[in-house]
Amino acid sequence: MGVIAGSTSDEERAAQIARRFDVPLLDSMCSPRGLPERRAVVQVIDGIPGIQLTGRDVPGAVTIDFADKSLAHRRRAGHNELLGKAVGWKQARAPRVLDATGGYGRDAFLLADLGCTVDVCERDPIMGLLFQEALSRGLASTDEWLVSVLARIRLHNEDAQTLDLSALGGVDVIYLDPMFPLDRRAAPAKEMQILHLLLASEDREPVAESEDALAGDHDHTREQQDAALLAWARAQEVQRVVVKRPRRAPEIGGPAPGHSLTGKAVRFDVYPVSREGSN
Ligand SMILES: C[S@@+](CC[C@H](N)C(=O)[O-])C[C@H]1O[C@@H](n2cnc3c(N)ncnc32)[C@H](O)[C@@H]1O
Repeated sequence: MGVIAGSTSDEERAAQIARRFDVPLLDSMCSPRGLPERRAVVQVIDGIPGIQLTGRDVPGAVTIDFADKSLAHRRRAGHNELLGKAVGWKQARAPRVLDATGGYGRDAFLLADLGCTVDVCERDPIMGLLFQEALSRGLASTDEWLVSVLARIRLHNEDAQTLDLSALGGVDVIYLDPMFPLDRRAAPAKEMQILHLLLASEDREPVAESEDALAGDHDHTREQQDAALLAWARAQEVQRVVVKRPRRAPEIGGPAPGHSLTGKAVRFDVYPVSREGSN
């Protein structure tokens, strides 16, 4: 991990980020394409930090931008309908959601757009930085709709399992979208490919295509972490826990969900919590 400035005007910001995360500031003259293969670095372009992969033939940097047209498009295309059903959204009352796996914030954004108040947890410091900066930029925009949606989102840059839910003022639903192993037969979306490598490099573990044994260990650990996160969520004072999975993926280990909602590419497993209706 390191930080690189996209141009000389980004050097100061890049240096600030490197100091904050205590990681090396890379020479702004070096190109990510000339660095060792398949690592993730933070690249600052026009003052905005993004994640850039290193090595030959890598795609451009990704960042979080809530003003990006693709988010408004996802909403128009009805991506929020199944998600809304899964969290128990009703016209008269949008639930208060804890999105415990924030990532790029797309699901949090769709939920907030539905009118839900959304507390978001993201435990990775770099993803947290990208998320917080995207929130601040969006909230400072002149787009009233965008500002009203983002005003319902609050970020906690920490592991969800360390959060004191009673301090949040009420949570009806915990939403989980854990990382799923990349499907090696399909070309993974650029954002997910980059997120996988970022999280692996934060663990200081290289992930190479050929290292199947290592990838197998990763998958096993991840399954255990997912099961622990679900067990934690189900033990909270909430009405339901919703887990997003790829359409045909197995359920997370543990008790079976109460029901599932299946869309074209994803499935939402809904776990009612026995205290249903207590909030
Ligand atoms: C697949 S991504 C989520 C994508 C997200 N739903 C979206 O719409 O962009 C999973 C994210 O959850 C984060 N994460 C995993 N376990 C977590 C935990 N226990 N607490 C907080 N964040 C967690 C990871 O760092 C990663 O960024």
